[in-house]
Amino acid sequence: MTRRQAEPAVELRGITKRFPGTLANDAVDLTVRHGEIHALMGENGAGKSTLMSVLYGMERADAGTIRIDGRAIKSGFGSPSDAMAAGLGMVHQSFKLFDSLTVAENVVYAAEPRRFGLVDRAAARRRVRELAEEHGLAVDPDARVGDLPVGLRQRVEILKLLHRGARTLILDEPTAVLTPAEADALFAVLKSLAAQGRTVILVTHKLREVLEGSDNVTVLRDGRVVARLVTAETSADEIAAAMTGRAVELDRVHAPGTPADVVLAVNGLTTDAVHDLALTVRAGEIVGIAGVAGNGQSELVEALAGLRPTTAGRVTLNSEDITHASATERRVKGLAYVPEDRHAVGTAPAASVADNLAMGHHRTSLSSRGLLPPAAVRAHAQRLVERFGIKASSPEVPASALSGGNLQKLLIGRELAHDAPLLLVEQPTRGVDIGAIQNIHDQLIAYRDSGHAVLLVSAELSEIRGLADRVLVMYEGRVTATYTKDEADERTLGLAMAGGAGIAVEAVD
Ligand SMILES: Nc1ncnc2c1ncn2[C@@H]1O[C@H](COP(=O)(O)OP(=O)(O)O)[C@@H](O)[C@H]1O
Ligand SMILES: [Mg+2]
Repeated sequence: MTRRQAEPAVELRGITKRFPGTLANDAVDLTVRHGEIHALMGENGAGKSTLMSVLYGMERADAGTIRIDGRAIKSGFGSPSDAMAAGLGMVHQSFKLFDSLTVAENVVYAAEPRRFGLVDRAAARRRVRELAEEHGLAVDPDARVGDLPVGLRQRVEILKLLHRGARTLILDEPTAVLTPAEADALFAVLKSLAAQGRTVILVTHKLREVLEGSDNVTVLRDGRVVARLVTAETSADEIAAAMTGRAVELDRVHAPGTPADVVLAVNGLTTDAVHDLALTVRAGEIVGIAGVAGNGQSELVEALAGLRPTTAGRVTLNSEDITHASATERRVKGLAYVPEDRHAVGTAPAASVADNLAMGHHRTSLSSRGLLPPAAVRAHAQRLVERFGIKASSPEVPASALSGGNLQKLLIGRELAHDAPLLLVEQPTRGVDIGAIQNIHDQLIAYRDSGHAVLLVSAELSEIRGLADRVLVMYEGRVTATYTKDEADERTLGLAMAGGAGIAVEAVD
């Protein structure tokens, strides 16, 4: 072993970083060895991104030392390019690629192979092919980055770092934007990079991927290290308890509901991405739609919400035909809707938290002759902020000041407050902290148990299993399988989601 490898790849000691009013990192120690996948975990706001920004030369620490391969970096890196020169590379939460350029152009950008002083395009394409092949990161060098799905754009980011010779890769919440299949593919790549001796720091708050994909875990809470764990010797419960500071019951399967009258009935529904789909949801029942993202679930929900034209079929809400009703008419008739995209569709970022919580309430008990009295809006906001544990410094701050998880609580709180007979809810806990996930699940169950009908679309199997009374699997725009709560085990669902419904499970054994 060379001296370089005997020393940790990254060693942070006593890193402290203060923002006005916040101690984001409080004397944090982090040791990452060569060739390991090290998970840095913590709930939103725990200080993970700040610590990585300090390491990567984007923020200057107030105190602490950084060592790379045993070498002290006096007062930290001055810039990301200094960090890169020392072998670090970071994929940020939001990608930093040029959409109008090709994959190859992005990968070699500002580090282009040259021939007679000119950028050697053929060499750039060759280089991308080589790197892609070596690391199992297949992507077409000539594709325009703007045309690629998120999973492939992320590959381009990783290729870019590898092209620049990064030996330690930092990925900040890399799977937040990926489908489960894309996330699996990413983990295969990270494991092979680690097997070649590269080092990976994985920032995440998702337990499952840490348990499956990392060697060691450091947990932050409120800016402090609260646990250092060896992945093989820990459990989801232990990590969750460290992250939240209390025992959390994970993957709880809630008791079934008591279904009553049919609230939503869908027959032969057809849109651009949904084919001849039938389903019913009863009062007091949660029907779960499982499926790998992109199999028509979002289009189904949009059609039911009145946001996407249906080309055939019939939809009734409490026996009333709403097939051609507008989104607003559906709302009035008793449909509440939590969309997948809480930023673009679900909320108004510039409006205050209180105003966001009041949205859509112009025809409810909050309003007086169609107007919303400010005092009522405030009181309503205060009730929901408390009930859903929305962390906002005041109900008057803009919604854009909330973290993703808190914005989600706002959205779900607002929709449940409508007390509508039918709730459509899509990916209710994507990007949400463990503690908040439990709260959201409890609220959905309580909503069901007070006699409401819920149609839940989720890509999280454990969420579907925990909440749904019946599970429908969507594959290529159709419902290909239906299960009762008892039948819906992970293996059966996983197989059906991969398009294997109809194959007898016994025959596979
Ligand atoms: N540039 C900044 N200015 C002020 N406060 C910040 C800034 N960046 C982060 N914070 C605060 O520091 C704390 C830690 O944030 P962050 O490192 O982003 O957490 P995480 O990545 O674990 O979600 C939070 O309270 C956040 O609001
Ligand atoms: Mg972060």
